[in-house]
Amino acid sequence: MHILLLGSGGRENALAWKIAQSPLCKKLIIAPGNPGTAQFGTNIPVSLTNFEQIEQICMVEAINMVVVGPEDPLVNGISDYFNSSEKLKNIFIIGPRKYAAQLEGSKAFAKEFMLRHNIPTAAYKEFTSENFQQGIAYLKQHSLPIVLKADGLAAGKGVVICNTIDEALAEFEAMIQNAKFGEASKKVVVEEFLQGIEMSTFALTDGKNYVILPEAKDYKRIGVGDTGLNTGGMGAVSPVPFADAVLKKKIEEKIIKPTIAGFEKDKMEYVGFVFFGLMINDGEPYVIEYNCRMGDPETEVVMPRLKNDLVELLIATKNGRLNNIKIEVDERTACTIVAVSGGYPGDYKKGKEITGVAHALDSNSILFQMGTVLQNGQLLTNGGRVLCITSFGKDVAESTSMASMALQKISFQGMNFRNDIGYEFK
Ligand code: AMP
Ligand code: GLY
Repeated sequence: MHILLLGSGGRENALAWKIAQSPLCKKLIIAPGNPGTAQFGTNIPVSLTNFEQIEQICMVEAINMVVVGPEDPLVNGISDYFNSSEKLKNIFIIGPRKYAAQLEGSKAFAKEFMLRHNIPTAAYKEFTSENFQQGIAYLKQHSLPIVLKADGLAAGKGVVICNTIDEALAEFEAMIQNAKFGEASKKVVVEEFLQGIEMSTFALTDGKNYVILPEAKDYKRIGVGDTGLNTGGMGAVSPVPFADAVLKKKIEEKIIKPTIAGFEKDKMEYVGFVFFGLMINDGEPYVIEYNCRMGDPETEVVMPRLKNDLVELLIATKNGRLNNIKIEVDERTACTIVAVSGGYPGDYKKGKEITGVAHALDSNSILFQMGTVLQNGQLLTNGGRVLCITSFGKDVAESTSMASMALQKISFQGMNFRNDIGYEFK
């Protein structure tokens, strides 16, 4: 099997690490990849919006399967592009069609889907400039806090939780009338605030059957104790200690099953990973969001815990026989901690020398690169989230302390990481 993996972050480093372990993978190309993925295959530079260029790589490298890491190419229709081309039709692509990828690309689309298929989620209404005044009236009688969501993709920044009506009114106006998030906020979803604790669960589906991957909890805020600005993710743990068999069964019955059945009923042609962002309130799961891909940094704990051969899973997905697969999971706890550039998620500098990588790891730890670049043999920072270390331990306390110890051996100017990942569970 010749596999092309699209993307360049920590998620793709973890996927490349996992794919390369499979004897079924004869060639792995990562486009564009990063210095971490280059350890497991060949990186080829590409722009992920340039489908012709991706097509070219597939032809030259005789690719049989494409695994799409990030959401952008999916929301822009890469699966449809492959399917409608005579030359590419036989290449199997892991990732939903453009229509189905709206589950991530449009909050209103996702809410309508959940309503249609009776999937528990927060109550909501959607507004545009056309019913702006009704939106104002709706906000004025809404309970607090109020959750406002830009409908479209807004690089993880489009959700604002407002604690007063005035704040909500100002935010609502900024989003719809002043295009605060550009096109993405022309439509706004106003949602009830859900109390509880968040976790994420992941499925891989062939459109009909599915397997459930290990669950995870990520830590989005920059500051200790979940304070400060939202980031792409500062760390993650798996398993989630409170996710017992009873809760997992509820998640499967009330959320995963009706979601996959909904794909079939709505003829959505969804083949690939489904990321369920959940809020657990009083033991009951609600969907906060769907993503049409794996999470980052969740993949960096999910893939290390998955014992199955990932390529075998992906081939079963292609053949529509995921029902024959039994998922096997490493029982240990995996935790990942992300080292970020000073200033992130605000402004930060790139090009800082990274040292200590060669001697940081013990046998229970793995390093995944996120925003790095190799220049003249020197590893440099090249993004906000720079690298992460995943460690295994008997519990959250042990795995986080090992990841933290390993990170302390690495340094670059301005390096910052959260030392409290998994704090609720220690
Ligand atoms: P999203 O981009 O939809 O994942 O939202 C970002 C974050 O906002 C989530 O991870 C939650 O922490 C929070 N959030 C979103 N929707 C709600 C909601 N209805 N109630 C409470 N918190 C929410
Ligand atoms: N860690 C959250 C995400 O990948 O969207």
